[in-house]
Amino acid sequence: MAETSDTTVEEKEVSSETVSVDTDGFGDSAASEQVVLEVKNLQTHFTTRWGTVKAVDGVSYHVKRGETLGIVGESGSGKSVTALSLMRLVPTPPGRIVDGEVILGGRDLLELSERQMTEVRGGEISMILQDPMQALNPVFTIANQVGEAIKIHQKLKGQALLDKVVDSLRKVRIPAPEVRANDYPHQLSGGMRQRVVGAIGISSAPAVIIADEPTTSLDVTIQAAYLRLLRQIQQEEGVGIIFITHDFGIVAKMCDRVAVMYAGRIVEVADVRTIFNDPLHEYTKALIGSVPKLEEKTGRLPQIEGQPPLLYNLPAGDAFAPRSTLTFTPEDAERRPPLIEVEKDHWVQLSKSSVSEYDKYAHLMPAEDDE
Ligand SMILES: Nc1ncnc2c1ncn2[C@@H]1O[C@H](COP(=O)(O)OP(=O)(O)OP(=O)(O)O)[C@@H](O)[C@H]1O
Ligand SMILES: [Mg+2]
Repeated sequence: MAETSDTTVEEKEVSSETVSVDTDGFGDSAASEQVVLEVKNLQTHFTTRWGTVKAVDGVSYHVKRGETLGIVGESGSGKSVTALSLMRLVPTPPGRIVDGEVILGGRDLLELSERQMTEVRGGEISMILQDPMQALNPVFTIANQVGEAIKIHQKLKGQALLDKVVDSLRKVRIPAPEVRANDYPHQLSGGMRQRVVGAIGISSAPAVIIADEPTTSLDVTIQAAYLRLLRQIQQEEGVGIIFITHDFGIVAKMCDRVAVMYAGRIVEVADVRTIFNDPLHEYTKALIGSVPKLEEKTGRLPQIEGQPPLLYNLPAGDAFAPRSTLTFTPEDAERRPPLIEVEKDHWVQLSKSSVSEYDKYAHLMPAEDDE
């Protein structure tokens, strides 16, 4: 591949058909060892008339400073609800966070008052939404909207506030930011609008940014430029990013580690190369089925045989077992498989029905059941 890995923005096109093993495609990883966010046993349920939907059913993960953690999984697997839970933005009712901890800056966000949480939201942790038009209000200027975010968290006013707005716009590479600040959203291009949303996202110097499918509404060239920008900001600011996507091409370029979600649980977590090259869980294998090696072509997720389970009627045990190509063992339908660290930093939800190398790791299973 004739790719000169340089930091020039804009131009280069990233088609998901030609993505290579290039975890540094958008610039070097800035990952460090310092954990900035830790999610423990998060559980979020929705009450519906069919029963309780366990949208998030005991999710644990962490994000390190400067790291990008990818979250992948089929539609409905609980990726967005997990993200909303971290921000405490789950619509209640029908939703409710029933258990877990979200540790950021030394405290549990789930214990904060709504008022304290308002400070944290868009401050220490912020979320970049998918559609920039939706995130921006058409009747206010860019300065107004970026300023609003800064005002809340940094208590600036007047010229100091305006300077900070221009500074944020410059950080996301908006040309002539002093002038553009007075524009309305419709006067900007799609890519610029996305950058403005990015400017709002970073204006408060958050420790963690959650990007939920942030590029799906962008065309491929703008997408590449935007992702490269996110990466640059990450390097400059050391922010940890949770990156939710369906696109494995993007995962390969952006993410340091990847968590695979199925039916509200994490079934496998590892560094990006391990996920692509040595996945253990049958679901992970199926997800990347058409992309066996990072070196080869990647694309969008292929269809997997069978349907995801109905989340209001989950089996107690391994939710993937009925779809797995391996032999189904009745005990796996009953016993919830634990997430086990099988190699350093490689965790898998270990069950006979879903992990073909089960025997190799069986000794790591907690001995709570009788043979
Ligand atoms: N307000 C709600 N009421 C009832 N159920 C909900 C609500 N919001 C989400 N859910 C359910 O929670 C589950 C997880 O949804 P979530 O939006 O997290 O999926 P996702 O992994 O983000 O999917 P996608 O890839 O399509 O964005 C789904 O079964 C969904 O139907
Ligand atoms: Mg979603």
